[in-house]
Amino acid sequence: MNFQETKLLLIQNGQDALLRAFDGFDEDEKRAFCRQVNSIDWSIFDKRSEERKGGLSPISGLTRREIAERSDEFERTGAELLRAGKVGAVMLAGGQGTRLGSDAPKGAFNIGLTKEIYIFECLIDNLLSVTNKFGARVPLFVMTSDKNDIETRTFFEKHGYFGYPENDVYFFVQDMAPCTDFDGKVLLEEKAKIALSPNGNGGWFSSMKRAGLVGRLKKQGVEWLNVFAVDNVLQRIADPVFVGAAALSGLPCGAKAVKKVSPEERVGVLCQRGGRPDIIEYYELDEKTANARDEKGELLYGSGVILNYLFRVSSLEEIEGSKFPVHRVKKKVPYFDGEKRVIPDRENAYKYETLILDMIHLLNGCLPFEVEREKEFAPVKNASGADSIQTAQELLRKNGVQL
Ligand code: UTP
Repeated sequence: MNFQETKLLLIQNGQDALLRAFDGFDEDEKRAFCRQVNSIDWSIFDKRSEERKGGLSPISGLTRREIAERSDEFERTGAELLRAGKVGAVMLAGGQGTRLGSDAPKGAFNIGLTKEIYIFECLIDNLLSVTNKFGARVPLFVMTSDKNDIETRTFFEKHGYFGYPENDVYFFVQDMAPCTDFDGKVLLEEKAKIALSPNGNGGWFSSMKRAGLVGRLKKQGVEWLNVFAVDNVLQRIADPVFVGAAALSGLPCGAKAVKKVSPEERVGVLCQRGGRPDIIEYYELDEKTANARDEKGELLYGSGVILNYLFRVSSLEEIEGSKFPVHRVKKKVPYFDGEKRVIPDRENAYKYETLILDMIHLLNGCLPFEVEREKEFAPVKNASGADSIQTAQELLRKNGVQL
């Protein structure tokens, strides 16, 4: 696409303001800028999320008591699937961790106090405890973004893959999307470069497919994928009891969940909407619904998701190409103001993201699987306060991890 066509593309997408920037570009900058403009999926702005339709109702799932009662049966089934190589793991590590305020990959954060223990290492240790116990091979797929791909791969290499078999680790890169100001105008990151950010964790399966990894895992016989967030240091990966319960349920997916501590807790909750499984974000839950309780006094919408899902690969393929809503999320995005780079001290921009939780609604069913918060949920989101390094360190210590 030439210079004129690129200008037209920007105008068509309501980005006329960027044309002014063109005037100051030299020939190299013009070429690079045109290349970048043409590589962007501009349709992301048209796929904004709509209000979901259909009445909300609670979803039933396995409680901790029910899981304990059937844990031998679940574990036996899960162990068989693990030993047969039918389970893979997907680490979502493409996020930027803006709330933590570090540019490095979140998994490279040293959470140790007297020695070095990286977040990646905590996760790999958890996975190794399963693969070693069952003599299983679990391919680990790590999603990165353009912003942290090289650093992530280098970090794994430098640390000997934290003891995980190198041949079982596969990296793939997710797509990026432009960032805009609150009026929808695209921001520049440098003089001749549009500010891009990772396009959310919802595109993991299509990005994996594009990287040729879905074909590979199917050839290997992988039937289930355990997808998890990089930033929960107590994350149990390829948990045989969860795998067995999901497989025996006959449902296309399972979601680990913790009981909400209060109606106000800021986590997404599992529910049904219009007869399909769904996850409702805390900011969409009105006060009355958030406080609704059943006859035993339990919150009706009290299953908080911890971003640990099991998906049947064949079901993921069935929903491929389905319409995926795009969410606008307020974030701090550094930008070029025409003269200099500005690092904002408050949210100044929208990022455009698809979310993994929207996948659940596309599937025909989902098994909520309750886990003990103190044993499985230690998110590292903020630099201090709730869900921070300090709270995660405390929980790691409580679980016997030497820091
Ligand atoms: P978060 O929603 O916490 O986003 O990600 P984040 O980018 O890591 O952090 P903030 O909001 O900027 O502070 C939840 C999980 O999804 C992954 C993250 O790496 C984390 O494991 N993620 C998020 C991606 O893999 N890609 C994305 O584009 C966004």
